[in-house]
Amino acid sequence: MKRCRLVYRSIAEPSLLAGSALDNLVNRSQERNSVTGITGLLVLSGNRFLQVLEGPVGFVNELMAKIIADKRHSRFELLSYEQSAFPLFHDWSMTVLRLEEIPTPTRDVLVAKYDLDNGSVRVPDDSLSAHSLLLDARWICAGRVGESVRT
Ligand SMILES: Cc1cc2nc3c(=O)[nH]c(=O)nc-3n(C[C@H](O)[C@H](O)[C@H](O)COP(=O)(O)O)c2cc1C
Repeated sequence: MKRCRLVYRSIAEPSLLAGSALDNLVNRSQERNSVTGITGLLVLSGNRFLQVLEGPVGFVNELMAKIIADKRHSRFELLSYEQSAFPLFHDWSMTVLRLEEIPTPTRDVLVAKYDLDNGSVRVPDDSLSAHSLLLDARWICAGRVGESVRT
């Protein structure tokens, strides 16, 4: 089975950032992704999303089409799409990391690496830096207390 990794960034609609809307979206995503074998991570910085999705090519492509059409965010920008048999984000069917909520020393490191954009950690628009931020996010998530790790 061919597998791929896709990375994009987008802008969240304000309604998705209110109340528990984003947590609900992530919970539903976890349920769906565990059925299709998709894994990944969603980073939120200010109102910017950066998401990586990995899994079987057919399922990832189907999901990408749904995500592009989803009105809960806008300005979808594909940053990379590559065939890869080796998943880097296999610990989570999906999880969210809100960069506004991480400890200040960790956030300072990210600001030093990626800079600020409107007071939030800048979400890069090039593939290499975006992957770098996602790998940093992976390590931050891996250290979170109480995180349910996929087995
Ligand atoms: C930022 C963002 C990330 C999303 N990530 C996922 C995801 O990882 N998995 C998923 O099934 N749906 C995800 N969705 C939701 C899909 O766009 C879509 O609503 C969902 O797959 C249900 O589609 P359907 O009811 O048409 O089958 C995401 C939506 C947004 C706005």
